[in-house]
Amino acid sequence: MNSVLTRAGQVLVPALLLWIAVAGVAHAEDGIGNLARANGPGHAAIASAHPAATAAGFEILSQGGNAFDAAVAVSAALSVAEPHSSGIGGGGFFLLHEAADQSSVFVDARETAPAAATRDMYLDENGEPVRRASLSGPLAAGIPGLPAALEHIANKYGRLPLAQSLAPAIRLAREGLPVTEGTQRLLRAFPRMGSPSPAFVEIFLPDGEAPPVGALIRRADLADTLETLSAQGAAGFYTGPRAELLVKGVRDAGGIWTTEDLAAYRTVERQPIRFRYGEVEVTTAPPPSAGGVALAQVFNMLGHRGYAQLEEPARTHLLVEAIRRAYRDRAEFLGDPDFVPVPVERLIHPWYADGLLASVRMDRATPSDTLPGPVSQRPLGTDTSHFSVLDKDGNRAAVTQTINTLFGSGFVPPGTGVILNNEMDDFSVKRGAPNAFGLVHSHANGIEPGKRMLSSMTPTFLESERGLAILGTPGGSRIVTMVLLGALAWMDGADAEGIVGLPRVHHQYIPDSVSFEAGAMDNDLQAALAELGHKLRESSRPWGNMQAITLDYADDTLTAASDPRRNGGSDVR
Ligand code: GLY
Repeated sequence: MNSVLTRAGQVLVPALLLWIAVAGVAHAEDGIGNLARANGPGHAAIASAHPAATAAGFEILSQGGNAFDAAVAVSAALSVAEPHSSGIGGGGFFLLHEAADQSSVFVDARETAPAAATRDMYLDENGEPVRRASLSGPLAAGIPGLPAALEHIANKYGRLPLAQSLAPAIRLAREGLPVTEGTQRLLRAFPRMGSPSPAFVEIFLPDGEAPPVGALIRRADLADTLETLSAQGAAGFYTGPRAELLVKGVRDAGGIWTTEDLAAYRTVERQPIRFRYGEVEVTTAPPPSAGGVALAQVFNMLGHRGYAQLEEPARTHLLVEAIRRAYRDRAEFLGDPDFVPVPVERLIHPWYADGLLASVRMDRATPSDTLPGPVSQRPLGTDTSHFSVLDKDGNRAAVTQTINTLFGSGFVPPGTGVILNNEMDDFSVKRGAPNAFGLVHSHANGIEPGKRMLSSMTPTFLESERGLAILGTPGGSRIVTMVLLGALAWMDGADAEGIVGLPRVHHQYIPDSVSFEAGAMDNDLQAALAELGHKLRESSRPWGNMQAITLDYADDTLTAASDPRRNGGSDVR
């Protein structure tokens, strides 16, 4: 359900406002942080990928929690309600904004490589990637970050005890959730795509097949694990009997985790990337996300070439050429900033964008293989989960969390109920070898013990004199372009429903094609782009699951919307 609320409490039909961003980019230090407004909206909004998770967030707000307590509740509830996308066996990025002091922080809960991980661990004797080795089973799993983040955020930013914010998720796990048609379809597909472990089969595929629609899936082991987290904090997950159970399960099935790996896991607080595009301040994800750097680069290029004033096909052509170059830089330069020097300031500097633009021709597409960098081809996938929260005081959370591909590694350590991620595939297993999303990377994203793998997750805030937007989406390599298009839509006046409903276009350097959803480009635009040399590919499936909130400062109109392509839940109360 999508929702709109005005200051007077009236429900409005969403309308596009005529508000055009004045293109032009300022560097990170220029006047950033001046736009945040002291007073809150008076109402709260939540948009998430599952109505039960959104309800969990509102339950915690009604008990006196703030946006950060609600984020903990929504995150944990998604572990139960959306097990194919994210969970405490994985990681995530929490972009938070505190209204009281107008500060923003990025809580990095990305998984880490275990200490026994090596650069070549997924290669055969000929140095070629072993098929699915970085995707299936416990060897594919990084050390989870989400449990540590939940405790960190509750203790440092929340008003309520962790146990109170975890209570709705524990209840959902114990009482069970009914199987929907969507869940059934995913469960039927998974054995063909992945390797469900015996404990996974016991929970999700009893009698060897997906349960009927309406049947309850209860998660008693997961409820116990969440109870331990609730009673003991992160120590209850990363040390002691639960940690030993996790490690035993992993090692018995051929994995390499140790109890030391779990005990060593820490979240990291980082400065978000902040930049201006015209009148809009963008606050977004720094490395180990690749998203914020790419967004800044693309907006810099668009601003320098007057994107807002262009007509089609020049508009889409410039967008694609800018995205192509940003994804090339991702492939070459980005990795965990605690392990490799990532030249963020240089990459997002406006002068650097001028250099990138030097090779852009407005009368011709640039073939990706004429740009230097690692090259390969592979199809794309979708998973992960995003949610957005705004409380009545103006605190905000944009959170994207993941276990990577559908149902992660498919491995559940017996007795824990926790589906482990397969995030190791987001490392570069070999220079130029594509991951599950077709992304190629250099050694900057090579495997090293304790290192975080590069991510596309891009939780983002936009703010201007007009108001603010909180947005993000799953969708693998397409995440960054979806957030970019959502941001451009907001700059053109869209509310939350307009942002999430927009048909999408994507390019990622390799493969060298412009993919698009049905309805994203009319025939004339397709023909004009083909004439410029772009290879076009219409997607047979819709992408993403964007969850957005917008607030207009003029009249406090607050809107929350879940992507119409899926079955999320959003509300304003
Ligand atoms: N696992 C998807 C991502 O982090 O980009």
